[in-house]
Amino acid sequence: MSNAGYQIVQLASGVNSVRSLAEKETFHPVIGPVAEAEALYVKQLHLIERVRQQTGKFIVWDVGLGAAANALTVLRATRRIPCSIRLVSFDHTVEPLIFALHHQSELGYLDGYEERCRQLIENVNKRHRDNFASRAGIAIARARRRIAPVSKPNFVPLPALQSFTDEELLARAKNFYADMARRRTVRDFSARPVPRELIETCLRTAGSAPNGANLQPWHFVAVSDPALKREIRIAAETEEREFYEHRAPNEWLEALAKLGTDAHKPFLEIAPWLIAIFAQPYRILPDGRKLKHYYAIESVGIATGLLVAAVHQAGLVSLTHTPSPMGFLNKLLGRPAYEKPFLLLVIGHPAEGARVPDIRRKPLEEISSFV
Ligand SMILES: Cc1cc2nc3c(=O)[nH]c(=O)nc-3n(C[C@H](O)[C@H](O)[C@H](O)COP(=O)(O)O)c2cc1C
Repeated sequence: MSNAGYQIVQLASGVNSVRSLAEKETFHPVIGPVAEAEALYVKQLHLIERVRQQTGKFIVWDVGLGAAANALTVLRATRRIPCSIRLVSFDHTVEPLIFALHHQSELGYLDGYEERCRQLIENVNKRHRDNFASRAGIAIARARRRIAPVSKPNFVPLPALQSFTDEELLARAKNFYADMARRRTVRDFSARPVPRELIETCLRTAGSAPNGANLQPWHFVAVSDPALKREIRIAAETEEREFYEHRAPNEWLEALAKLGTDAHKPFLEIAPWLIAIFAQPYRILPDGRKLKHYYAIESVGIATGLLVAAVHQAGLVSLTHTPSPMGFLNKLLGRPAYEKPFLLLVIGHPAEGARVPDIRRKPLEEISSFV
């Protein structure tokens, strides 16, 4: 990847960071490179105390070289302590570091370490030239990590399941279907309050969803504050007006016509609860590394399905709302930029005499095949 694969971006905190265009990912996106490295590496891990106590070489594993913000913050924090430090990174490229060196004045944190960074880049490039392919290096590093995984599996008995005859099982499945078939998306809400505990219980159901590698890549913000709901309505209606008047292709408008929806969203204020659902494509570990969440969107979709079912089963109604784009939710609800707003679930009681579009569901033969 050439240097054109990166750009300098200004974060909400006002400081600059590096963004990988290929990965569509900003390094240290929350509070910025140095502040994040100081908080997560230096303070949270009590680095200075630990380096002081260490008698031999102090090794920081998997520092994640990137554009060297973590590495240089560690070196800077410990520069007055007489010690020997080794930083080990499994990154496969020094391209972000080369880019950072070219943009030193905008980033600031490389000051005083330029020569060391150049030496590191030169050493890595030399290894490439010597056909000591870095990919092989990564493979070795990964293989090593595979041989010695940190976590060990721990098994417990499956929670006892009641045993049923096939007839009983079928009757249960039919009952559940009959109940779920009555679920409808409702757009006319009553202002009748719903106890918080009920919402919490439905959220527990959502949080029980199967998910990629049990990383549980979701966050639910339950909003009942009238002022906040009003702000959400204003922002959503702004996007929706833009959508209905300019952005929506005719085909989409045609599909929506049957539902009678428009840019007017009074339910966002009337319904007692809005749950903003966020997907987390990754999380930031205490040591500053990013942990990728596998199948984040699929997992959040399943959790949302369970939430919709739980709300319905409790006797309430919901509306799956997706004003597009939904970035305003991060801002209004204080969620980090790397969390993706997935959808806004409106929950409450239906208004008296609420009506729903007369739509048909596809029959089983059309949605399934048995082989
Ligand atoms: C991902 C998704 C996004 C949706 N977005 C909206 C929306 O923004 N506004 C709306 O009124 N309905 C929205 N809906 C509701 C659908 O229109 C509704 O589920 C569909 O018409 C079927 O009707 P039913 O839920 O009553 O069976 C959405 C549903 C899903 C699953």
